[in-house]
Amino acid sequence: MKARRSGGRTLEFKDAGTQVGPLLVVDDVHTSFRTARGTVRAVDGVSFDVHEGKTLGIVGESGSGKTVLARSIMGLLPPRDVIRSGTVRFAGHELTAMDDKDLRQVWGAELSMIFQDPMTALNPVKRIGVQIAESLILHLGMDKKEAGSTAVELLRSVGIPSPEDRVKWYPFQLSGGMRQRVMIAIALACAPRLVLADEPTTGLDVTVQAQILDLLAELQRERHMAVILVTHDLGVVASRADDIIVMYAGRVVERAPTHTLFHDTKMPYTRALMDSIPRLADPSGVRLNAIAGRPPDLINPPDGCRFAPRCPYAQDKCRESEPPLRTVGSADHLFACWFPLVDGESTVPPVPVSLSAPVAPGPQSSGASDA
Ligand SMILES: Nc1ncnc2c1ncn2[C@@H]1O[C@H](COP(=O)(O)OP(=O)(O)OP(=O)(O)O)[C@@H](O)[C@H]1O
Ligand code: SF4
Ligand SMILES: [Mg+2]
Repeated sequence: MKARRSGGRTLEFKDAGTQVGPLLVVDDVHTSFRTARGTVRAVDGVSFDVHEGKTLGIVGESGSGKTVLARSIMGLLPPRDVIRSGTVRFAGHELTAMDDKDLRQVWGAELSMIFQDPMTALNPVKRIGVQIAESLILHLGMDKKEAGSTAVELLRSVGIPSPEDRVKWYPFQLSGGMRQRVMIAIALACAPRLVLADEPTTGLDVTVQAQILDLLAELQRERHMAVILVTHDLGVVASRADDIIVMYAGRVVERAPTHTLFHDTKMPYTRALMDSIPRLADPSGVRLNAIAGRPPDLINPPDGCRFAPRCPYAQDKCRESEPPLRTVGSADHLFACWFPLVDGESTVPPVPVSLSAPVAPGPQSSGASDA
């Protein structure tokens, strides 16, 4: 049992490997932002759980709410113009009921996040060794000297060459891949039980991407950590996640163990994401199957199924009423579709997709639709 002191009270956490039931329980989380144009419903009723030592992939196109969901779990949302509801329980503690003081005891120590953009997440004017040491001093009570030498060992463990020298470097002196390794070292410094990795390899070439993800998986195994791997690329989580959640327009539209998701896909959106994964066998120069159209505006999402304006199988019923998240057969496979695929095929004939449907304003920064 570990005790973390926060002001007048002490938060107690069990040791890794002793958790009974799920480590993380996310229940009906909604997060919206008040903007001049209206309320953006970025995360709209998301529930799931994660067990110790397991990897959950969260996948969806750009703007589907993945980062807002990750930040809602951490309690790292902007201080103003946010409306949130639902609960997040981690290791028996309700994070959504904690104030910032308590949350600071949990961040880094028990629950940590690898951010989407290491250049903005790292402090540009502090040496990387100092940034790692700060967390060790705060959470593990190390003195400066011990924290300094532990920072060198952590950099070594994430594959940074000559860590005794690099510990004195600033973030801008490192390559993108090295900065991402530093982010992992910081996230893992205090041996957290759950790491949220938000697009930890976006912008890196495929070889470095594989190295970073392998490193994360190796450290996860050694420490029995749970990992939530957030990505717009289903290919990234295909061989790494135990379970996958597919998000569309702020909602979960399919959830299943990874093998089931790939071999018994129910939701046409999930199928479209799969079809947009580049395949090694494709000759170079082959165009990828981008998903037609763009995700909906989260201020005024369409009635019924939010994917209907882009779905080749949409029927009147899809536009009129929203499909609930449901299951047929296996209880761990959930999907939200009125006309689910059967053996990979639709039971209704395809119809041409009209691209004049309302879509999210402005360019989308990344995601399968950009492929
Ligand atoms: N602070 C904010 N104020 C208003 N809207 C926001 C804010 N933060 C996020 N959003 C909106 O919430 C929606 C979900 O954004 P989010 O960053 O979670 O998407 P994402 O799935 O992580 O996309 P990407 O793959 O590009 O990282 C988007 O429409 C985004 O514009
Ligand atoms: S509910 Fe209808 S529109 Fe939505 S994914 Fe299923 S078939 Fe397509
Ligand atoms: Mg994001």
